Amino acid sequence: MTVTSVSSLSVDPPTLIVSINRDASSWPLVKRYGFFGVSILTSDQVDIAERFTGKGGLKGVDRFAGAQWTIGSSGVPLLAGALAAIDCEVEDIVERHSHAIVIGRVLDVTVSVRTAALAYWQGQYVAIDRDEDALRLAEVSLPASRATRKA
Ligand SMILES: Cc1cc2nc3c(=O)[nH]c(=O)nc-3n(C[C@H](O)[C@H](O)[C@H](O)COP(=O)(O)O)c2cc1C
Repeated sequence: MTVTSVSSLSVDPPTLIVSINRDASSWPLVKRYGFFGVSILTSDQVDIAERFTGKGGLKGVDRFAGAQWTIGSSGVPLLAGALAAIDCEVEDIVERHSHAIVIGRVLDVTVSVRTAALAYWQGQYVAIDRDEDALRLAEVSLPASRATRKA
């Protein structure tokens, strides 16, 4: 599944957090097997992001077609051309409201030499390639969030 709500929790030990909608088809698999993989996409992998939202009715194994995958030490599929691929074991789960907050213990990380990351902002996919891109995003985002608070 495509997620934006993934972030670092701690460095020592290496853990991350991901929030998964409990209605998503991936959720029962994560809960049952206790392992998951995070593949951080590059800016030219929009098509893969789209496939894993389930757009066009793509389900299950069909979402994996058209890209190369490796199998992590835990057995999870990881995208071969990802910016970074992280193999995780579920350490803890907090089921709250519509979502489950999953804490993953990082078992293994593979990092690519590429640098352009894919981000999602204001309903669109955007490339973050250089420091200037991140600064530009921060500049345009800040006035918008201030405006929301005032409204
Ligand atoms: C940009 C983007 C970010 C998303 N982030 C999340 C997320 O953080 N958590 C989540 O549960 N679903 C997220 N989704 C939705 C899932 O990708 C989508 O609902 C899921 O794959 C479809 O559920 P299904 O597997 O049951 O078909 C996101 C979708 C998009 C387009």
